[in-house]
Amino acid sequence: MSISPNKYRTHSCGALRLDDNGADVALAGWVDSVRSHGEGLVFLDLRDRDGITQIVFDAEDSGKEIVERADKLRGEDVIGVTGYVRKRDGGSNPKLDTGEIEVVIRTLDVLNVAQDIPFKPTDKESLPNEENRLRYRYVDLRRPRMQEILRTRARVCQIMRRYLSEVGFTEVETPVLFKTTPEGARDFLVPSRHQPGSFYALPQSPQILKQILMVSGMERYFQIVKCFRDEDLRADRQPEFTQLDIEMSFIEQKDVLETITGLFKEIWKEILNVDIGDVPHMSYHEAMDRFGSDRPDTRFGLELVDVSDIAGSTDFKVFTGAIEKGGVVKAMRVPGGAGKLTRKMTDAYAEFVKQFGAGGLPVTKLEGGEFVSGVAKFIQDVRPALVDKLGLEEGDLIAFGADTYNVVSRSLGELRLKIARDMDMIPAWGEKWNFLWVVDFPMVEWDDEQNRWNSLHHPFTAPKPEDVSKMESDTANVRSDAYDFVLNGSELGGGSIRIHDANIQKTVFKLLGLSDEEAETKFGFLMGAFRHGAPPHGGIAMGVDRVIMHLCDTDNIRDVIAFPKTAIGSDLMADAPSPVDAEQLAEVYVASTAPAED
Ligand code: AMO
Ligand code: AMP
Repeated sequence: MSISPNKYRTHSCGALRLDDNGADVALAGWVDSVRSHGEGLVFLDLRDRDGITQIVFDAEDSGKEIVERADKLRGEDVIGVTGYVRKRDGGSNPKLDTGEIEVVIRTLDVLNVAQDIPFKPTDKESLPNEENRLRYRYVDLRRPRMQEILRTRARVCQIMRRYLSEVGFTEVETPVLFKTTPEGARDFLVPSRHQPGSFYALPQSPQILKQILMVSGMERYFQIVKCFRDEDLRADRQPEFTQLDIEMSFIEQKDVLETITGLFKEIWKEILNVDIGDVPHMSYHEAMDRFGSDRPDTRFGLELVDVSDIAGSTDFKVFTGAIEKGGVVKAMRVPGGAGKLTRKMTDAYAEFVKQFGAGGLPVTKLEGGEFVSGVAKFIQDVRPALVDKLGLEEGDLIAFGADTYNVVSRSLGELRLKIARDMDMIPAWGEKWNFLWVVDFPMVEWDDEQNRWNSLHHPFTAPKPEDVSKMESDTANVRSDAYDFVLNGSELGGGSIRIHDANIQKTVFKLLGLSDEEAETKFGFLMGAFRHGAPPHGGIAMGVDRVIMHLCDTDNIRDVIAFPKTAIGSDLMADAPSPVDAEQLAEVYVASTAPAED
């Protein structure tokens, strides 16, 4: 890093080399460590974001008084020093870029004394618990690893801006104080002081506004933007997160996919020097059939195979019962699973799949050419057919799902991931970058609980033109022009071609059980815009935080956000959210109904 010299420093702590031998320099930074050698000699590692430089205080050059003050310095004090560069006495330190030199100090200025440092911001020791790190986020962010992540994040955003600007996109800001949007999570609400009883909703995405920008003739819009969703948090979810949001006019699905594929080629090339190659496409149905997931991790096998035809010819009630009820039987072959997966493990798997609605988990093993253990006795007769269809080999374990298509897919799909983790089948970070476009999603899915159709993507997603005629007669089989961008089993982004015809939009709202009035209050302004000249359009949004997680090899979304929130949405450093006084509430006409604290 080049810096322009000022009263604090002439160089960063990562800059000096043997070439600088003899130069007078000024450095500033944090005390990383102090080693007092007694007899008027103190060594100190001085750190800034650029690196570490060893500095030396000795009675001869620095003077006794400075050595005494240096001796009192503690980790994380902020100091400024001046002195001269010399070749290291005791041989160079190959671990540091500055390892061939040290700086002998003549003046010492203590700029800030660090009191009660909760932990040392280093990547060399095991990390303190996350709660502590979040509370003292400013200390945690000093770790080189965290600095590196934030810098990578900034670089990725730069690449996004540069690439998209070059291909004709315009960055437009949209409001944060807005109205409910169609992503389907709970809204964060903000009361209006000017209009008692009315609320803004923080946008779950700029979805409606970007569509309106298409009606406005922008043609190619993008934004790196905060989105807000009040939902239950998981390892890859935050209540406020960042999207790269895109919308384009007069385009087909392929144009959106090409734009994003091109952008990600650029990002992976520039950040990791990896060529991601062509990104394959897979239909939603193929993904569900083979992997039991609409964001399949294709880095390893353990694929699901439909064996309903074979299973139907057995006397095993679990199989035949499922088929009679219109369900399916699927099998997953686990190579070498007979030896590696114990009875205890398969029993635990049976419990595991129950949380996804499965009634149990029939398993068996192929040993000595026979099915042994588990449900062997029920399916021995169809062994040759199963061996043939599944390509079974000696030592395999076979797990079955027998239920509705959805339950079997979901439960075996989740089990597939679990077994892959347990058997160490998932390649290490950096070995495989399996990008994938999942396409041809159904437009809607049936919601058993609410007894109605739900959008798979959102209600503005266009049905495929060839499926429009089936919208009312064969709703379940209507496919949409929706697509997800998937990497190694995680959903990086999703989007669709939109409906730009007010009548089709009306039919979809009706299908989703949205009354005319509801549609009018929620999205009427969009319908209004569609009556004033709307171009065909479509777009996508990428989860920026998730992209950075992949690039920086972490499964914790909080690692890639400077000031993230905990699972219950708290900022531990600032202690937000926090109670507000009655007066402030009254000003915005909100009555507190929070339970009183004891
Ligand atoms: P969607 O809801 O699929 O689409 O969101 C797009 C991407 O945003 C990321 N994402 C999240 N990241 C972190 N925390 C969250 N809580 C969170 N929720 C979503 C995911 C996801 O793939 N308006 C549409 C896009 C469009 O149709 O253009 C939308 O928001 O990576
Ligand atoms: P049982 O006949 O109850 O001993 O079950 C035989 C095997 O089938 C066991 O491995 C169970 O886990 C499994 N099983 C039982 N009921 C179901 C079900 N409804 N769906 C899927 N598997 C089941």
